[in-house]
Amino acid sequence: MFPKINPSETPAWKALVAHQKEMKNVQMKDLFEKDPKRFEKMCIVFGEVLFDYSKNIITEKTLEKLLQLTEDCKVNEAREAMFAGEKINQTEDRAVMHTALRSFSDQPMTIDGKDIMQEVRATRQKMKTFCEKIHSGGWKGYSGKNIKTIVNIGIGGSDLGPVMVTEALKPYWIEGIQAHFVSNVDGTQIVETLKDLNPEETLFTIASKTFTTQETMTNAHTARDWFLKSAKDQKLVAKHFVALSTNEEGVKAFGIAPENMFVFWGWVGGRYSLWSSIGLSIALTIGYDNFEQLLKGAASTDHHFRTADFEENIPVIMALIGIWYTNFFGSETEAILPYDQYMHRFPAYFQQGNMESNGKHTDRNGNDVSYSTGPVVWGEPGTNGQHAFYQLVHQGTHIIPCDFIAPAINHNPIGEHHSILMSNFFAQTEALMNGKDADQVASELKDDKMNEAQMKKLIPFKVFTGNKPTNSFLLKEITPFSLGALIALYEHKIFVQGVIWNIFSFDQWGVELGKQLAKKVLPELENDTKIESHDASTNGLINAYKKWRK
Ligand code: F6P
Repeated sequence: MFPKINPSETPAWKALVAHQKEMKNVQMKDLFEKDPKRFEKMCIVFGEVLFDYSKNIITEKTLEKLLQLTEDCKVNEAREAMFAGEKINQTEDRAVMHTALRSFSDQPMTIDGKDIMQEVRATRQKMKTFCEKIHSGGWKGYSGKNIKTIVNIGIGGSDLGPVMVTEALKPYWIEGIQAHFVSNVDGTQIVETLKDLNPEETLFTIASKTFTTQETMTNAHTARDWFLKSAKDQKLVAKHFVALSTNEEGVKAFGIAPENMFVFWGWVGGRYSLWSSIGLSIALTIGYDNFEQLLKGAASTDHHFRTADFEENIPVIMALIGIWYTNFFGSETEAILPYDQYMHRFPAYFQQGNMESNGKHTDRNGNDVSYSTGPVVWGEPGTNGQHAFYQLVHQGTHIIPCDFIAPAINHNPIGEHHSILMSNFFAQTEALMNGKDADQVASELKDDKMNEAQMKKLIPFKVFTGNKPTNSFLLKEITPFSLGALIALYEHKIFVQGVIWNIFSFDQWGVELGKQLAKKVLPELENDTKIESHDASTNGLINAYKKWRK
């Protein structure tokens, strides 16, 4: 197992603290002026993904020191431990092998000396055969009709991946198939979803690693009741419900036959599970071959991550740039801004990916960390975000490193839309870097014939300080393959950051307390008895709720 190193005590960290003092007032635009080759030097082309990280407050010296941090923190050893199937998720005593799910090599991938690839291939084959049956009409609903609608019921990692990918790949949807996703335990979502559906043509994929998650089980039971209202025979559930899970007993207890269960394993983290049978709703919606392309794109990134030198390694550079701002500039948040409407759930997907993985304050030795770990991650598609929160990114008081993502080829090349979209994509990173100084503002106002007194008043509000860091990802096109590659780049970024921060990125104990307390509260809501078992605020809220719900 790789060592558990406090990054803040490494020589590289200390050197970076000192280096930040030299860098904090450096202007990126000056760095570009000094070095005409800066873009070429700070741009990595990987397949049909171009990653430009030149618009950051970094120099070659910064990169050297950040790369030294990967050595001091043994990132190389950690990466090898993950791929070797070591149980790096120590608090759950699990290996982290989602990379096996997208491996098409004939090399074994082992955990405890056992090759897991046979089971992986068998499950993929089962998914493929099932998809073909559904798409060819070989699988019929209870009344003999073809399946036309897929409803995935799951939450967190059992929802966000399938939603994000199916949305991002809408142009690839199989004709005649519609997909819906139900995650929230708020009855509104399932009621609104089922309202217009025909049970005779609907297939439910119940997606839950544990098959115990309250929200998912509640929605699954509601879906089954809805279905049985028309089908009227318990036996017919087999034609309309399949389970994607690691929990065979739980699946059986729900009434889904073993042949309708698509397994995966404890070594697949929930938020890394879209590559497993959790991706069945994706394969059913875009076709199994496209799902396989998605896996292959991710596999190409795995190969890049595993073999490229760290200075050419996109996930490593992404991770280091994030650490530079989080730990040395005090930045607390990062934005992900896809300039592609189909990618609208990508920020939400990596909100879970990042925040559930690296939102930890206990290091791998069980001590409190003395430095910041995972940032708050958020975002919206461009250009919508520009008219909502970019004001704060441009002129607020926070440093918000932003990732801009856009495809060169749009799936809907209508009129000038894509050129307009892309002109904004290019303009925003330029504006964030260059800003606009008082002289420029003054000359613009002069051109607008404003008098001196008015100008003096207005200038401070119209100045943009600039020097705001961004990464740009330009993809040739969003395809199953390129999307798979992009997702895996972000996954490995999270991994590298977790190693450097010396935290366990693959557990999520922080979600448990709320679940536990909700279980205690639920029976208290059964009657109208006044509640006094909590703090005054919680008692007050519960009692007010009980009064109003009558
Ligand atoms: O509550 C967090 C979590 O455990 C996530 O990590 C996971 O993706 C989600 O719940 C759903 O869990 P399951 O797939 O077991 O239903």
